[in-house]
Amino acid sequence: MRFVTLDEFIAQTEQELPEATGELSGLLRDIGLASKIVNRDLSKAGLVDAILGDANTVNVQGEDVKKLDVIANDILKKCLQNSGECCGIASEEEEEFVAFKNRKKAKYVVLFDPLDGSSNIDVIAPVGTIFSVFKRKSPVGGLCTLEDFLQKGSEQVAAGYVIYGSSTMLVYTTGNGVNGFTLDPSIGEFCLSHPNIKTPEKAASYSINQGNYNSFPDNVKKFVDYCQDSTEKKAFSLRYIGSMVADFHRNLLKGGIYIYPSTKSSPKGKLRLMYECNPMAFLQEQAKGKATNGKIRILDIEPTALHQRTAVYIGSEKMVEMLEG
Ligand code: AHG
Ligand code: MN
Ligand code: MN
Repeated sequence: MRFVTLDEFIAQTEQELPEATGELSGLLRDIGLASKIVNRDLSKAGLVDAILGDANTVNVQGEDVKKLDVIANDILKKCLQNSGECCGIASEEEEEFVAFKNRKKAKYVVLFDPLDGSSNIDVIAPVGTIFSVFKRKSPVGGLCTLEDFLQKGSEQVAAGYVIYGSSTMLVYTTGNGVNGFTLDPSIGEFCLSHPNIKTPEKAASYSINQGNYNSFPDNVKKFVDYCQDSTEKKAFSLRYIGSMVADFHRNLLKGGIYIYPSTKSSPKGKLRLMYECNPMAFLQEQAKGKATNGKIRILDIEPTALHQRTAVYIGSEKMVEMLEG
């Protein structure tokens, strides 16, 4: 069978859109390249002491930063600055957004979580990279501004993630369905392996840190109880690895729901709207699923700060609706 590489796919889909200028395509190709470099460094993590372990710093969220978080952040930043199409970035690992002084003519900004689930690195469990792309609001020719980044998720022009698991896969959308590409390490190319992903309507599993049960809101407690109740139906499987990308990926392909509610220690939720929830919500909706914070659609939340957090219920539509009550 003739396979289609990520670059070929991006070029083909661009041809189908008469208004496309090729700039977004170039940007997506550069993100693909950055993730191959991150993938290469991650695969050595278990071997190299100098790479593995704490960087002895805390990130802007007050959490421990593993060295690979910093390495992945730098790789993405560099690849995006080298790309002619990106005028600035915001990252979970950077306090402020970064405006690229040499890219004032570029049209897009990219927000990313360079390494999601980084506590999984020490135990060689899956981690990921999540990205979100917006068209800038400020005029082309000047430096990008905060308002370019603080846009509602519904304004995203592209979003995706890379999962570094038993194999490496890049999944993305530009608002015209969701496609997944598996990295063939022998040729160093992402190849189309999961075209037009639609999440199964019937959920098989639920993903939540159930150790926090006592501090969940009542509706979430009730839902978790329902998932376990096997009197009327088969109980759902609980699957939770502690890396949103990995838990989300399983649910996207097999059907399920990922929940990170507000808890006593994280009253606003733990996950970040701009780097984690918005891009995943865009993908989930494109795959015919649903994403809310329990009150409104994630993609309709008006952001007020780069590092803002939100509760998130995301997955198969019926499960999300059941949880919303
Ligand atoms: P990150 O490694 O980028 O800080 O993200 C970790 C996030 C998310 O990926 C994961 O689902 C969640 O934190 C796990 O949180 P708990 O350990 O509280 O369950
Ligand atoms: Mn994360
Ligand atoms: Mn992270």
